[in-house]
Amino acid sequence: MTTKTKSVHLAKRLDEVGFSDIVQIRNKVLELRAAGEPVHAFHGGEPFFETPETVKYAGLKALAENRTRYAPSSGIDPLRVAIAKKLQTKNHIDATTEDVIVTVGGAHALYVAFQAVLDPGDDVLLFSPYWTPIRDMITLAQARPVMVPTSTARRNGLTSALEHFSTPATRAIYYNTPQNPSGIVFSREEAEEVAAFAIKHNLVVIADEAYEDLVYEGEHVSIASLPGMAERTITAWTFSKTYAMTGWRAGYAVAKEPFMTGLRKLVLYSTNGVSTPTQWAALEAMALPESSIAARRDEYRRRRDLLVKGLNELGLECELPAGAFYAFPSVRKIDKDSRSVATQFLEKAHVGTIPGVVFGAQGEGHVRFSYAVSLETIHDGMEALRKMLS
Ligand SMILES: Cc1ncc(COP(=O)(O)O)c(C=O)c1O
Repeated sequence: MTTKTKSVHLAKRLDEVGFSDIVQIRNKVLELRAAGEPVHAFHGGEPFFETPETVKYAGLKALAENRTRYAPSSGIDPLRVAIAKKLQTKNHIDATTEDVIVTVGGAHALYVAFQAVLDPGDDVLLFSPYWTPIRDMITLAQARPVMVPTSTARRNGLTSALEHFSTPATRAIYYNTPQNPSGIVFSREEAEEVAAFAIKHNLVVIADEAYEDLVYEGEHVSIASLPGMAERTITAWTFSKTYAMTGWRAGYAVAKEPFMTGLRKLVLYSTNGVSTPTQWAALEAMALPESSIAARRDEYRRRRDLLVKGLNELGLECELPAGAFYAFPSVRKIDKDSRSVATQFLEKAHVGTIPGVVFGAQGEGHVRFSYAVSLETIHDGMEALRKMLS
């Protein structure tokens, strides 16, 4: 009898999937801090505010009242009802409670969206630079991410750029506005172009609106609200950014059939839903008035203006980002290799940033600064860079 050689190995589909460099930078920052060195930390991607008090107490109350058992895997009813109402009134999306699913943050919503839509060998168009995990999520679904350079596309028209990069295997478009890392907010006309392209080529749109409440210039347009789009769009949102709830892990997606059934199956077999007390806290967050969101947005705007002014004064050319909480200046005057610049910033000025190339080849020559930081961090960080560059 011949024995077949078997090896103990990792599933092959994980071979092409990487760990984000962002984690490596975070580790370097932690090392410096552990050695007692101060770090001006612009590398993160989370609000500097705390979770609102009423939201925290709603979580505590749920615990005290023993609302700690399994919830329906698609989410507790009152939360799904509140989300559907918000989608109708704020996003102008024709959504019922049945079209809503609660997820473990926006990342989980996007993960299940790609898994629900893609078959091995499919292509997905994404504007680049892009939020790093997207490439890996697409690869993990055994599909191919196809980069559409955002600045060229915006200059020459989105339709011709999408046309240029689409193939017979193109099945979906990832559409993120406001964007991480560039802070770009696509206009209504641009959303209409992407929608028309998706309809013409019969594509699904996976929309990521994590930063919908952080728009300083222009308007936020949910692509699923455009005519003919609700049935071909899966949109992901998160409680992380608007409500400073990154660690709670709560988000949601809206989709029509057949995608909602796919999302339900994937949520059921990946997490079996979101922690029950977290969902009650998320429901409380939805009750916060728009004025509290606007007040936080004003705080971000102050930080954006201060940071972008500081960067330009240092000769690091930076456009004013219209949304999200990131600035993406050019650092080519220091070095065209963004990894080298981020390392120099960290080692010589103790300024933590993310090299632009981490967000795709089109991000090379830039580094990402988050301005979800204190005003003091911005002052001190710019002063440290000024000393380094002089
Ligand atoms: C563009 C974008 N989408 C989605 C997310 C998901 O956030 P979370 O998983 O915390 O909800 C993030 C977080 O950084 C993001 O930047």
